[in-house]
Amino acid sequence: MSERLDKDEKRISGMFDSIASKYDRMNHGMSLGIDRLWRSRFVRQLGRKIPGNATVLDLACGTGDLTKALSEKGYHVTGLDISSEMMAVAREKCRYLSPKPTFVLGSAAQIPFKDNSFDAVTIAFGLRNFDNRELCLDEIRRVLKPGGRLAVLEFALPRNPTLRSLYLFYFKHVLPLAGRLVGSGEAYGYLVDSVLAFPRYEDICGEFEDAGFTGTGFKSYSGGIACSYYASAPGR
Ligand SMILES: C[S@@+](CC[C@H](N)C(=O)[O-])C[C@H]1O[C@@H](n2cnc3c(N)ncnc32)[C@H](O)[C@@H]1O
Repeated sequence: MSERLDKDEKRISGMFDSIASKYDRMNHGMSLGIDRLWRSRFVRQLGRKIPGNATVLDLACGTGDLTKALSEKGYHVTGLDISSEMMAVAREKCRYLSPKPTFVLGSAAQIPFKDNSFDAVTIAFGLRNFDNRELCLDEIRRVLKPGGRLAVLEFALPRNPTLRSLYLFYFKHVLPLAGRLVGSGEAYGYLVDSVLAFPRYEDICGEFEDAGFTGTGFKSYSGGIACSYYASAPGR
C-alpha cells in the first residue's frame, strides 16, 4: 500500500454516518460473531487492571457495543465519537443501563476533557481510523490520570503463513465483494485498506512508547486476526 489513506475526519464521519444503521449487522456478519467474544475478553482483561467503578473514556465508541460491555461491568463510561449517527445507535442501545454511559460528539485529536480525567481509555477498532495517531496518543495521555490504562482492540494480520494467506484471501477478495453486494463498497474497501496499512504489533507498542506510555504490550486474539494492546500513562 503506497498511497496514504484519506482519513480526513469529515470523510470518515460521513462514511460512518452513512452505514450506522447497518454497522452492527455488518460487523457481526463479517466476523461471524467473533467480535462479541473479542470485546468480552478485552473487558475481562481490563478488569484485571482497573477496578469496576473506575472512569473510562471509550474513544471511537461507534454504535456502543464496547461502551455497553464496559458499563455492564460497573465502569462509569463516556463514549466519544465523530459520527453522530453511530452514537445515536449507541445511545439507544445503552438507554436502560445503570450506570448509564454519557455520549459526547468529538474527536480523538482534540478530546474535549480536562487533563487527568479518566482511569482508563479504551478504543475498539478505532485507532486505525485516526488521521494523526501521534496527536491522538498525546491527547489520550493528557486525559488519563497518572498511571491510567490505555487499552486498544484492533484488527491485525495472523503471523502463521497459512492462516495469513487464507485470511488475506477472505479480506482482499470476499469482503470487498460482500461490501459491494450490500451497497457499502466504500466502507468495506476502506476497512480492507486501513487494516492492511495499520502497523504491526511491535510497531504500535513503539508508537505508544514514543508518546510517553510505559509497560506496553499486546495479546493476539483468534490466531492474530485481532489484537489487544495495552500501555500505562506515566507518573505513578
Ligand atoms: C469501526 S468503528 C468502531 C466502533 C466501536 N468502537 C466498535 O467496537 O464497534 C470506528 C469508529 O471510529 C470513529 N472515529 C474515526 N475517527 C475518529 C476520531 N478521530 N475521533 C473519534 N472517533 C473517530 C468512527 O466514527 C467510528 O464510529
